[in-house]
Amino acid sequence: MLRIAVLASGRGSNLQALVDAIAAGRLDARIVGVFSDRADALALQRASAAGIPAQSLDPRAFANRVGFDDAFFARVDATAPDVIACAGYMRLISEASVQARRGRLVNIHPSLLPAFKGLRTHAQALQAGVSEHGASVHYVTPDLDGGPVIAQARVPVLPGDDAESLGRRVLAREHPLLVETLGLFAAGRVALRDDRVQLDGVPLSTPLQLAANQRFA
Ligand code: GRF
Repeated sequence: MLRIAVLASGRGSNLQALVDAIAAGRLDARIVGVFSDRADALALQRASAAGIPAQSLDPRAFANRVGFDDAFFARVDATAPDVIACAGYMRLISEASVQARRGRLVNIHPSLLPAFKGLRTHAQALQAGVSEHGASVHYVTPDLDGGPVIAQARVPVLPGDDAESLGRRVLAREHPLLVETLGLFAAGRVALRDDRVQLDGVPLSTPLQLAANQRFA
Protein backbone atom coordinates (compact mmCIF):
# COMPACT_ATOMS: atom_id res chain seq x y z
CA MET A 1 0.00 0.00 0.00
CA LEU A 2 1.27 3.47 -0.89
CA ARG A 3 2.92 5.15 2.06
CA ILE A 4 2.36 8.92 2.06
CA ALA A 5 4.13 11.47 4.24
CA VAL A 6 2.39 14.86 4.31
CA LEU A 7 4.21 18.15 4.91
CA ALA A 8 1.99 21.03 6.01
CA SER A 9 2.45 24.43 7.62
CA GLY A 10 -1.12 25.48 8.30
CA ARG A 11 -4.80 24.70 7.94
CA GLY A 12 -4.41 21.20 6.53
CA SER A 13 -7.60 20.96 4.49
CA ASN A 14 -5.75 19.03 1.79
CA LEU A 15 -4.46 16.65 4.44
CA GLN A 16 -8.04 16.25 5.65
CA ALA A 17 -9.18 15.43 2.12
CA LEU A 18 -6.60 12.61 2.00
CA VAL A 19 -7.61 11.33 5.44
CA ASP A 20 -11.28 11.32 4.44
CA ALA A 21 -10.63 9.65 1.07
CA ILE A 22 -8.62 6.88 2.72
CA ALA A 23 -11.29 6.36 5.38
CA ALA A 24 -13.99 6.17 2.69
CA GLY A 25 -12.02 3.65 0.66
CA ARG A 26 -11.51 6.08 -2.22
CA LEU A 27 -7.73 6.13 -1.87
CA ASP A 28 -5.73 2.97 -1.31
CA ALA A 29 -2.93 4.48 0.75
CA ARG A 30 -1.70 5.07 4.26
CA ILE A 31 -0.53 8.39 5.70
CA VAL A 32 2.55 7.36 7.64
CA GLY A 33 3.28 10.75 9.15
CA VAL A 34 2.46 14.45 9.12
CA PHE A 35 5.33 16.89 9.49
CA SER A 36 5.25 20.61 10.05
CA ASP A 37 7.61 23.52 10.49
CA ARG A 38 5.00 25.12 12.77
CA ALA A 39 3.96 23.72 16.13
CA ASP A 40 0.60 25.51 15.89
CA ALA A 41 -0.38 24.12 12.48
CA LEU A 42 -4.00 22.96 12.44
CA ALA A 43 -2.77 20.14 10.20
CA LEU A 44 -1.05 18.57 13.23
CA GLN A 45 -4.33 18.51 15.16
CA ARG A 46 -6.13 17.00 12.20
CA ALA A 47 -3.47 14.29 12.01
CA SER A 48 -3.70 13.49 15.69
CA ALA A 49 -7.48 13.33 15.48
CA ALA A 50 -7.09 10.78 12.70
CA GLY A 51 -4.57 8.74 14.68
CA ILE A 52 -1.67 9.67 12.41
CA PRO A 53 1.75 10.34 13.97
CA ALA A 54 2.40 14.07 13.74
CA GLN A 55 5.39 16.18 14.65
CA SER A 56 6.82 19.62 14.16
CA LEU A 57 10.32 20.96 14.09
CA ASP A 58 11.11 24.65 14.64
CA PRO A 59 13.39 26.12 11.95
CA ARG A 60 14.56 28.76 14.44
CA ALA A 61 16.43 26.05 16.32
CA PHE A 62 18.76 25.61 13.35
CA ALA A 63 21.57 27.77 12.06
CA ASN A 64 20.55 27.52 8.43
CA ARG A 65 18.17 25.98 5.92
CA VAL A 66 20.35 22.95 5.20
CA GLY A 67 20.66 22.12 8.88
CA PHE A 68 16.91 22.29 9.35
CA ASP A 69 16.12 20.28 6.23
CA ASP A 70 18.61 17.55 7.12
CA ALA A 71 16.97 17.09 10.53
CA PHE A 72 13.42 17.50 9.22
CA PHE A 73 13.76 15.08 6.33
CA ALA A 74 15.59 12.54 8.51
CA ARG A 75 12.33 12.36 10.47
CA VAL A 76 10.28 12.14 7.30
CA ASP A 77 12.51 9.41 5.87
CA ALA A 78 12.23 7.42 9.09
CA THR A 79 8.59 6.73 8.15
CA ALA A 80 9.74 5.17 4.84
CA PRO A 81 7.32 7.07 2.60
CA ASP A 82 6.86 6.14 -1.06
CA VAL A 83 5.73 9.69 -1.75
CA ILE A 84 6.11 12.93 0.18
CA ALA A 85 3.25 15.36 -0.43
CA CYS A 86 3.71 19.05 0.33
CA ALA A 87 0.20 20.32 1.05
CA GLY A 88 0.47 23.90 2.16
CA TYR A 89 4.08 23.46 3.27
CA MET A 90 5.31 27.03 3.14
CA ARG A 91 9.07 26.59 3.41
CA LEU A 92 11.57 26.52 0.60
CA ILE A 93 13.39 23.19 0.60
CA SER A 94 17.15 23.13 0.12
CA GLU A 95 18.42 21.82 -3.18
CA ALA A 96 20.19 18.78 -1.73
CA SER A 97 17.05 17.67 0.13
CA VAL A 98 14.99 18.04 -3.04
CA GLN A 99 17.48 16.21 -5.25
CA ALA A 100 17.77 13.32 -2.81
CA ARG A 101 14.01 12.75 -3.11
CA ARG A 102 13.53 13.46 -6.80
CA GLY A 103 10.51 11.65 -8.17
CA ARG A 104 9.02 11.11 -4.71
CA LEU A 105 8.37 14.71 -3.64
CA VAL A 106 5.21 16.44 -4.92
CA ASN A 107 3.50 19.73 -4.16
CA ILE A 108 0.03 21.12 -4.65
CA HIS A 109 0.02 24.70 -5.86
CA PRO A 110 -3.07 26.89 -6.28
CA SER A 111 -2.67 27.94 -9.93
CA LEU A 112 -2.49 26.46 -13.38
CA LEU A 113 1.30 26.27 -13.54
CA PRO A 114 3.42 27.62 -15.11
CA ALA A 115 1.13 30.62 -14.53
CA PHE A 116 1.23 32.40 -11.17
CA LYS A 117 4.06 30.88 -9.20
CA GLY A 118 4.75 31.93 -5.62
CA LEU A 119 2.25 33.48 -3.24
CA ARG A 120 -1.14 35.24 -3.59
CA THR A 121 -1.95 33.26 -6.72
CA HIS A 122 -5.66 34.12 -6.75
CA ALA A 123 -4.93 37.83 -6.65
CA GLN A 124 -2.34 37.31 -9.38
CA ALA A 125 -4.94 35.54 -11.54
CA LEU A 126 -7.52 38.30 -11.03
CA GLN A 127 -4.98 40.97 -11.81
CA ALA A 128 -3.99 39.19 -15.01
CA GLY A 129 -7.64 39.00 -16.06
CA VAL A 130 -7.63 35.30 -16.94
CA SER A 131 -10.95 33.52 -17.48
CA GLU A 132 -9.71 30.24 -16.07
CA HIS A 133 -7.73 29.41 -12.95
CA GLY A 134 -7.09 26.29 -10.92
CA ALA A 135 -4.56 24.14 -9.16
CA SER A 136 -1.63 21.90 -10.08
CA VAL A 137 0.14 18.94 -8.53
CA HIS A 138 3.76 18.87 -9.62
CA TYR A 139 7.01 17.15 -8.83
CA VAL A 140 9.21 19.35 -6.67
CA THR A 141 12.52 20.40 -8.22
CA PRO A 142 14.94 23.06 -6.99
CA ASP A 143 13.12 25.52 -9.28
CA LEU A 144 10.34 26.99 -7.05
CA ASP A 145 6.91 25.89 -8.34
CA GLY A 146 8.74 24.96 -11.54
CA GLY A 147 8.88 21.16 -11.51
CA PRO A 148 7.07 18.93 -14.02
CA VAL A 149 3.30 19.18 -13.64
CA ILE A 150 1.46 15.89 -13.17
CA ALA A 151 -2.16 16.98 -13.04
CA GLN A 152 -4.36 20.05 -12.89
CA ALA A 153 -7.93 20.99 -12.00
CA ARG A 154 -9.50 24.00 -13.69
CA VAL A 155 -12.17 26.40 -12.48
CA PRO A 156 -13.75 29.41 -14.18
CA VAL A 157 -13.10 32.93 -12.97
CA LEU A 158 -16.59 34.38 -12.52
CA PRO A 159 -17.79 37.98 -12.70
CA GLY A 160 -17.53 39.64 -9.32
CA ASP A 161 -14.87 37.26 -8.02
CA ASP A 162 -12.44 38.48 -5.43
CA ALA A 163 -9.40 36.57 -4.22
CA GLU A 164 -11.46 34.93 -1.47
CA SER A 165 -14.28 33.64 -3.65
CA LEU A 166 -11.88 32.49 -6.33
CA GLY A 167 -9.65 30.86 -3.72
CA ARG A 168 -12.60 28.94 -2.26
CA ARG A 169 -13.54 27.66 -5.70
CA VAL A 170 -9.97 26.52 -6.35
CA LEU A 171 -9.59 24.92 -2.91
CA ALA A 172 -12.73 22.85 -3.46
CA ARG A 173 -11.06 21.38 -6.54
CA GLU A 174 -7.64 21.01 -4.92
CA HIS A 175 -8.97 18.35 -2.62
CA PRO A 176 -10.17 15.87 -5.28
CA LEU A 177 -7.16 16.79 -7.42
CA LEU A 178 -4.72 15.74 -4.71
CA VAL A 179 -6.69 12.60 -3.90
CA GLU A 180 -6.93 11.56 -7.54
CA THR A 181 -3.28 12.31 -8.26
CA LEU A 182 -2.11 10.28 -5.28
CA GLY A 183 -4.47 7.57 -6.47
CA LEU A 184 -2.35 7.37 -9.62
CA PHE A 185 0.73 6.93 -7.43
CA ALA A 186 -1.08 4.25 -5.42
CA ALA A 187 -1.86 2.42 -8.64
CA GLY A 188 1.78 2.67 -9.70
CA ARG A 189 0.77 4.56 -12.84
CA VAL A 190 2.82 7.73 -12.56
CA ALA A 191 6.57 8.25 -12.50
CA LEU A 192 9.24 10.85 -13.24
CA ARG A 193 11.72 9.79 -15.95
CA ASP A 194 14.32 12.07 -17.52
CA ASP A 195 12.56 15.07 -15.95
CA ARG A 196 9.27 14.20 -17.61
CA VAL A 197 6.07 12.87 -16.12
CA GLN A 198 5.15 9.43 -17.35
CA LEU A 199 1.69 7.90 -17.13
CA ASP A 200 1.61 4.17 -17.68
CA GLY A 201 5.14 4.40 -19.06
CA VAL A 202 4.27 7.05 -21.66
CA PRO A 203 5.56 10.65 -21.33
CA LEU A 204 2.78 13.19 -20.84
CA SER A 205 2.72 16.03 -23.34
CA THR A 206 0.32 18.09 -21.21
CA PRO A 207 -0.71 17.75 -17.57
CA LEU A 208 -3.60 15.41 -16.78
CA GLN A 209 -6.90 17.19 -16.21
CA LEU A 210 -8.49 15.76 -13.07
CA ALA A 211 -11.22 16.59 -10.55
CA ALA A 212 -13.48 17.44 -13.47
CA ASN A 213 -17.26 17.24 -13.89
CA GLN A 214 -17.91 19.40 -10.88
CA ARG A 215 -20.45 22.15 -10.50
CA PHE A 216 -19.03 25.52 -9.64
CA ALA A 217 -20.29 27.90 -7.05
C1 GRF B 1 -3.49 25.27 -0.66
O1 GRF B 1 -4.12 26.27 -1.40
C2 GRF B 1 -2.31 24.72 -1.39
O2 GRF B 1 -2.48 24.66 -2.77
C3 GRF B 1 -1.25 25.74 -1.06
O3 GRF B 1 -1.48 26.07 0.27
C4 GRF B 1 -2.85 25.84 0.59
C5 GRF B 1 -2.89 24.87 1.72
O4 GRF B 1 -4.19 24.69 2.22
N1 GRF B 1 0.06 25.22 -1.35
P1 GRF B 1 -4.46 23.60 3.32
O5 GRF B 1 -3.44 23.83 4.44
O6 GRF B 1 -4.30 22.24 2.70
O7 GRF B 1 -5.84 23.85 3.80
